[in-house]
Amino acid sequence: MNVNTNNGVCILGYSITYSRSPLIHNHWISKYGVDSEYGICDLPVEKLPAFLSSIRDGKSAGCNVTTPYKQTVIQYLDAIDDAASAIGSVNTIYRRNGQLRGTSTDGAGYISHLKNTHPDLSLKNARVLVLGAGGAARSIADALVQSDCSVIYIANRTLAKAREIAGLQADIIKPLAWDDVQSMSGQVDLLVNTTSLGMVGRQPLVLPLENTRPDCIISDIVYAPLETELLAQARSLGRPVVDGLGMLLHQAVPGFKLWFGIEPQVTDELRALVEQDLLSHG
Ligand code: ATR
Repeated sequence: MNVNTNNGVCILGYSITYSRSPLIHNHWISKYGVDSEYGICDLPVEKLPAFLSSIRDGKSAGCNVTTPYKQTVIQYLDAIDDAASAIGSVNTIYRRNGQLRGTSTDGAGYISHLKNTHPDLSLKNARVLVLGAGGAARSIADALVQSDCSVIYIANRTLAKAREIAGLQADIIKPLAWDDVQSMSGQVDLLVNTTSLGMVGRQPLVLPLENTRPDCIISDIVYAPLETELLAQARSLGRPVVDGLGMLLHQAVPGFKLWFGIEPQVTDELRALVEQDLLSHG
C-alpha cells in the first residue's frame, strides 16, 4: 500500500539530545508504505510561530513536541482536545479542516499498554498509587480518572506538586506524603512509578513490595533500564508487572493515526528494534 502524503513529520524541541520517536515512526512509515519521513526539528523559540504556521499551511502532516515546548506551543494552536487541556501540555500536533490542533497521548499510551499487557484488567473502581508528580504523572492521573478508577493517590517528595495534580479532580485524586507510600502500597490494585528514580544514572527507587497484594499490578514508566529494580523485585515476588517501553511505543500510535489515517500496530518486531536501540544508546 502506498499512501501518498508527501508530508514530512518530526519531533519538535530544543537541544534534543536523543529521541526514539524517529525510530518508531520511520519503522511504521516503511511498514505501511507511507510517503513520508520522520525527522528532528531542533528550533529556538523564535522560530516556533513560522514552523507551526507551515504545518497549518499543509507543508507537513504534523509533529510531536518535546521539551521545552510542550506548554509553549499551545498559544500557537487553534484548538487542543480534552486530554491536552486537562494537563496543560501537548505532545502531538496535527491538522484538521485547516486548523492546527494539539493533543497529549501519554496518558492514553499508558492505559493502552496496561490493557494490552493485562487484557482482563478492569480499571473501573480500581485503587491506584502513582509515585511522582511531574508531567507524566499528570497525564497518567488524568487518563486513570477517565478510566473510572475510584481513587488515585499521588505521592510525591514535594507534596505541593501532588496537591496541584489532585486539583484536576479532587474527589478522586488524593495527594499523599512520600513517607506514606509504604503503608499505602498494601491497599491498591495498581502501583505506577513516574519518578525518575530507577533510571540509568539515577538513584534506585527503594520500595519493598512485600506489603502489596498478590494481584497488585506493579508498573514503571522508566524504560532505561528496561527492567528496573522495582520491576525485578515485583517479578521475583510473582506480582504482575507492566514495563515502561510499552508506554513509549503505545503513546506514538495516536499521532501516526492522526497524521496518516492508519492505526499502526505495536508489534514484537518494533519492540525488539527499540530494545536494540536502548542497548546501544542506553
Ligand atoms: P516528568 O515530567 O518526565 O514526569 P519531572 O517533572 O522531572 O519529570 O518529574 C520527576 C519526578 O521524579 C518528580 O515527581 C520528582 O519529585 P519532586 O517533584 O519532589 O522533584 C521525582 N523525583 C526525582 N528525584 C527524586 C528523589 N530523589 N526522590 C523522590 N522523588 C524524586
